[in-house]
Amino acid sequence: MGLCVGCQGTEPLESGFLDTDTGPPEPTTSCSLVTPGTEAEGWFRVVLADHPELDTIYNGVQISLGGTTVNLAKVTEDCWVAMGVRCTHEGGPVTYRPARNQFVCSRHGAIFGPDGVPVAGPTGVPMPLFEVGFDGTDLWVKVD
Ligand code: FES
Repeated sequence: MGLCVGCQGTEPLESGFLDTDTGPPEPTTSCSLVTPGTEAEGWFRVVLADHPELDTIYNGVQISLGGTTVNLAKVTEDCWVAMGVRCTHEGGPVTYRPARNQFVCSRHGAIFGPDGVPVAGPTGVPMPLFEVGFDGTDLWVKVD
């Protein structure tokens, strides 16, 4: 059983998490950026100048957009993903793990790829993803 690296304290994880990871896996996600819409259509601008960490590959933040908290991470050189923060298993907190380029739930150890698909743990249900666009300067996320 591994320990949750980066979590508060030393929460044990029940499955799939290895402390010995040496770096992120090769990106397997094909970028799915879309043309952003308008704020009236539910799109929120994320100003990259305000979040310089999002301009670096394998970096991520949790950000509130219109009251919805989203995991936003740069998962390849030119692609970001926006994922929900509540696990599809039992609603535990899901965060981005740069060292793995994956998203991990600290409650029971579910691991999700950048495409939201579970790769380990007790759920087979993918995490919800939000549409992401890039206008050449800033990111846009559509929060439904
Ligand atoms: S609540 Fe996330 S793995 Fe159980």
